[in-house]
Amino acid sequence: MSPKTSILDTFTLSHAERIMAMRDPDELIGQRGMAPYLRRWILERDDRGAVYIHEILGPDPSPETHNHPWVSSAKVLKGWYEEQRGRPYLDTPGTYVTKLHAGTVKHRRPDDWHRIQRVAPGGCITLFVTGPVLQDGWGFWCPDKGYVPKEEYVDPDNPGAIGAGCGEALNPTPNDARTREGFQ
Ligand SMILES: [Fe+2]
Repeated sequence: MSPKTSILDTFTLSHAERIMAMRDPDELIGQRGMAPYLRRWILERDDRGAVYIHEILGPDPSPETHNHPWVSSAKVLKGWYEEQRGRPYLDTPGTYVTKLHAGTVKHRRPDDWHRIQRVAPGGCITLFVTGPVLQDGWGFWCPDKGYVPKEEYVDPDNPGAIGAGCGEALNPTPNDARTREGFQ
């Protein structure tokens, strides 16, 4: 095996399915009181980054694209998802859509604005690898306001839900202690 071979080359769907069958997910990500849109198995996570299995069950709940504070790579192991990319009114050619099929590896920089907008029926399984945190915070790109930090966008009492968002009102939701609070 080449010293440059990475887990993205060697990790397969059967590896993921074996782990997913052995234990429950470590984190359920979504809005309290709602079915999670992401189930996460943590293979590694420390200051240097993280390695996750993601089972994506639905689109990102926010209508806006978002960024992340780290570089990341996603390898689609099963199913597909459709990703909206870019910042409205700023990027050329602006927001566009990419469909990622099984076998695709997608690398992202922290400033690659994106949003999962559609997922294969039955869900999509990915290996998701991140590097260390490279910048303070992350947020959402609103059509009129531009960058809105996560802390202003999400509901402080239910961080898995949209709060002030880009300025719209929100609907309160019931509690669900099982669901991890936060956007992915
Ligand atoms: Fe994301």
